[in-house]
Amino acid sequence: MKMMKTNKKFNIAVVGASGMVGGELLGLLESRRFPVGELYAFNSGRAAASVTFRGKKHACSAPSFEALKKADIVFFVSTDEVAEKFAPRLAAAGVWCVDDSARFRLTAGVPLVIPEVNGEELKPSRKLIAGPNCTLTGAAVALALIHRRFRVTELRLATYQAVSGAGKAAMARLEEELKAYFKSGSVPRSSDGKFPRPIAFNLFPQVGSFDGDGHSGEENKVEAELKKIWGDRKIKISTTSVRVPVLRGHSLAVWFKTARPCSPAALRKELQRTPGLKFFPRPDEYPTPLENGNRTEIVYAGRLRRARTAANEYQLWIVSDNLYKGAALNSVQIAEKIAKL
Ligand SMILES: NC(=O)c1ccc[n+]([C@@H]2O[C@H](COP(=O)([O-])OP(=O)(O)OC[C@H]3O[C@@H](n4cnc5c(N)ncnc54)[C@H](OP(=O)(O)O)[C@@H]3O)[C@@H](O)[C@H]2O)c1
Repeated sequence: MKMMKTNKKFNIAVVGASGMVGGELLGLLESRRFPVGELYAFNSGRAAASVTFRGKKHACSAPSFEALKKADIVFFVSTDEVAEKFAPRLAAAGVWCVDDSARFRLTAGVPLVIPEVNGEELKPSRKLIAGPNCTLTGAAVALALIHRRFRVTELRLATYQAVSGAGKAAMARLEEELKAYFKSGSVPRSSDGKFPRPIAFNLFPQVGSFDGDGHSGEENKVEAELKKIWGDRKIKISTTSVRVPVLRGHSLAVWFKTARPCSPAALRKELQRTPGLKFFPRPDEYPTPLENGNRTEIVYAGRLRRARTAANEYQLWIVSDNLYKGAALNSVQIAEKIAKL
């Protein structure tokens, strides 16, 4: 685990401190010894909540511009609407804003950053920074060097997305369904709108709402955000996003075609030196969400093989922690880079 080495302290605000990502973010600021001066914790204000940071309890309250402006860095881990309301104004006032919501990811002039892939996008003049969607992070990291060396022209993904990717209410929903099943022998249908179908002992190919062509919101995010992060508008990407009853850790089955000829051996070499990635070369050593997707700071990949559908097409299996590398850890790594600018 990397530790921060700097004498300067940063006042930190976390908007969404009582949420799934917020909780992990506070833990990471502490375990990675980020130089936090004051900590300000915010939630919706709808219910009383508190968080503990370095052994001290902090009551959460609803955010205001004035309260957020006291921070040097604000982490937005709440909603698109909250980020929209505060982040541009705060950034204009000189406060670093690291936003995990989807609101500004595709906005021109806002860097969309995974530090080990495109960390050079971070500049003192651009105070509002977006972190990407948790699903594409694994692919963006795992295939970064392969794309640079062999140029990926087509990428197909099938995703297996954990319930925690939809926040704490979704986790509670899975728990309720499991309890109901063990009590009554059947999984209840809920109409709270959190998920389109029951999730216990089930899976469904819908993450987000559908557009006019039948693609889901998540599928569109994967495509657009990956293109922005890799700085490649030409790559063709096609995704099927599936929610599965895994608690934590997103998995991806990917098929990629390369422009330049390569071989499994050449690909293995790139995967073995890719920053932020652990690659398992033996086919039976593949990663799983339970073993490799829970509080893990790197992305895992395995089962590299030639695809049988086209020349220069390969397959790979990728697992990453949606709450760490897909959100909280990536944001803290961004802050660590900011601290050195
Ligand atoms: N979960 C993931 O794997 C993941 C990955 C990448 C990005 N993200 C993004 O990270 C953000 C947080 O996700 P999450 O999974 O942590 O969700 P969550 O568990 O539902 O938590 C949401 C947090 O936002 C707060 N919040 C809601 N409305 C607010 C408001 N009007 N003002 C201030 N705070 C408000 C909530 O406060 P209360 O407790 O008071 O409701 C809670 O602290 C979302 O934008 C999500 O898209 C999540």
